Amino acid sequence: MTKNIAIFASGSGSNAENIIRYFQFDNSVQIPLIIANKQNAYVLERAKQLGVDSFVFPKADWDTGEKILEKLREYQIDFIILAGFLLKVPAALLQVYSDKIINIHPALLPKFGGKGMYGDKVHQAVVDAGEKETGITIHYVNENYDEGEIIAQIRCEVLPSDSPAQVADKVHALEYEHFPKVIEKVLNGKA
Ligand code: GRF
Repeated sequence: MTKNIAIFASGSGSNAENIIRYFQFDNSVQIPLIIANKQNAYVLERAKQLGVDSFVFPKADWDTGEKILEKLREYQIDFIILAGFLLKVPAALLQVYSDKIINIHPALLPKFGGKGMYGDKVHQAVVDAGEKETGITIHYVNENYDEGEIIAQIRCEVLPSDSPAQVADKVHALEYEHFPKVIEKVLNGKA
């Protein structure tokens, strides 16, 4: 049975593009929709290049989520992936899509997570804390930032000489390699 996925993103969308390319020849997974919360998010440019419909819902729409829910229904979405999405998922979406929304966080939760911990801020905090390792956490989404049940964590080493940018490069490499594969396992009920 074909699974229809929507990707929510707020920024560049490199993970969104990677996931779309990974599944592009898999007929059992369709990704017909990208939703952003800012008009200038580069993910919208990527959507255009990839031929994926995209819509922007400004912050006010995310309070109730009704308009987003309408769009998800229009595209018959079964599953939602947050790939660099910075807003809280409204309760209305969590109810309809309970255990059908997953997120990726660029650190080993519960460390370096929570409100405001995103992008380079996370890698700066990891370096400042003198961590010997970091990595990615893929988890189900609940009503709080970065607190849902963890599906997978993949680690990488942090060298004392690593800058936050070098840590970011290592973490992005893990994201691109593992996120689509973990999504595939979840969709096949194997995660
Ligand atoms: C990634 O580091 C991801 O872990 C985090 O936000 C970043 C999104 O990057 N949630 P991109 O927009 O996919 O390039």
